[in-house]
Amino acid sequence: MDLITALEGLVPELESGLAQASSLEALEVLRVDFLGRKGRLAHIMSALPQLAPADRPAAGQKANAVKEQLSALFEQHKSALEQAREAEALRRFDPTIPGRLPWRGSLHPDTLVIEEICDVLRGLGFDVASGPEVENDFYNFESLNMPPEHPARDMQDTLYVSDKVVMRTHTSPVQVRTMLSRKPPLAVICPGKVYRRDSDLTHTPMFHQIEGLMVGHGISMAHLRGILTAFVREIFGSATQVRFRPSFFPFTEPSAEVDISCCMCGGKGHVNGEPCRVCKTTGWVEILGCGMVDPAVYAAVGYPSDVSGFAFGLGVERVAMLKYGIGDLRMFFENDARFLGQFA
Ligand code: DAH
Repeated sequence: MDLITALEGLVPELESGLAQASSLEALEVLRVDFLGRKGRLAHIMSALPQLAPADRPAAGQKANAVKEQLSALFEQHKSALEQAREAEALRRFDPTIPGRLPWRGSLHPDTLVIEEICDVLRGLGFDVASGPEVENDFYNFESLNMPPEHPARDMQDTLYVSDKVVMRTHTSPVQVRTMLSRKPPLAVICPGKVYRRDSDLTHTPMFHQIEGLMVGHGISMAHLRGILTAFVREIFGSATQVRFRPSFFPFTEPSAEVDISCCMCGGKGHVNGEPCRVCKTTGWVEILGCGMVDPAVYAAVGYPSDVSGFAFGLGVERVAMLKYGIGDLRMFFENDARFLGQFA
């Protein structure tokens, strides 16, 4: 067959091929078949060297013209198919389906409790202070009346960074830092993270405390009672009963632990006839430690001996567990969105 005729035949052949090609994928197969490196056009043109030299230019021109025609046909068909595909997507799009709402964050229960407690205590005249989590032995122990051989320094409890540097085991060192930088009268609270070598069902290596300190002249245990009672009633409700039990802390004398009437059973020890699992039927739950600042602490910070004041320390997770009825301490640190989302 003559080469020119063969070239001209490609156009109607492609036209009938295109009539069958109903997808972009089928179209691509067709394009390779006609215009590809080993396609029909290339195959026909491979016969070019066999033509008489005089016939070659005309054949070459024809080949170019046919190639353009073929390409134009492909482009036309391609955009028609693309438009059809888009129209189909639009047809399937259902604007009445409700959208997916973005996830909404919520504050961690620790944060909620810290903010609430700080709010209440700010209202009672306390400033909020902070201190470092990596602390010198002096601030964490020595100045708080815990000399080198004191059992509270036990390697079992304390995470040591080096011989004289520890991860603070409580927020009490902020008391000392505050007194070293301010003169009485003063009232501060310090919320923050504390660290201990402890990990089981009811202990985590990191947890949160809030420290309180009020120092001035003529401050007595009655002030401590009054402030803590008012504070606890703000947090747990005005019907909450408070009791002080004698206790011991190296940095306070006298010292006390404070219990509140159980917020689960209202102090009755039973819920619907069942033993209360929160207070184990005692009707009371321990909430914080406190006491009158020990004179040894004033001496460590260079305060005169005629000042007096009180301090207290409470566990944030403990308050949150009681307040929100959370049964498992580990939930605070697992970052499970199903748990955290409940505090939105
Ligand atoms: N620092 C104590 C602890 O971590 C808590 C504490 C008890 C703080 C009595 C005080 C206090 O300020 O007066 O166990």
